[in-house]
Amino acid sequence: MEKTFVCIKPDGVQRGLIGEIIQRFENRGLILCAAKFMIVSKEFAERHYAEHIGKPFYNGLVNYITSGPVFAMVWEGEEAVKAVRQTVGATKPIESAPGTIRHDFSAKTDRNLIHASDSVTTAEREINLWFEPDEIVTWDKISSPWVFGNNS
Ligand code: CMP
Repeated sequence: MEKTFVCIKPDGVQRGLIGEIIQRFENRGLILCAAKFMIVSKEFAERHYAEHIGKPFYNGLVNYITSGPVFAMVWEGEEAVKAVRQTVGATKPIESAPGTIRHDFSAKTDRNLIHASDSVTTAEREINLWFEPDEIVTWDKISSPWVFGNNS
């Protein structure tokens, strides 16, 4: 199954949304494989957001992600990258669908609560950046066949 990277940003942590966000991924049957509560250094933020260097919002983005603790996670499931992105909602909260995390809890892009990998390739890079291999637990969740099982 596919793994993806998710990070609850400082606004999500400060607003007490860690539990709510985890619940939403658990409700979809996704499997938590790793979690880490940490403060991100400027150097680390620059590595994570390297693809955005030079964009007008880059400096603000680095300041935002380093402004307080974040909660980083790895989630697993069939098409986990797409499933998590769907649950998270569009980057701009005003364009996110009702029922998504960003729609339900945020109002603007500069405070969009959460980051999720946008492709399988990005997920691999981000998981390797944020977690050591021995911090990732691949396990059999007993309810998974009731979520990801086939009828054949
Ligand atoms: P995230 O999923 O963390 O990935 C990159 C981040 O850059 C994104 O969420 C937003 O927080 C931010 N971002 C993307 N586009 C813009 C934009 N046009 N203006 C400001 N911030 C942006």
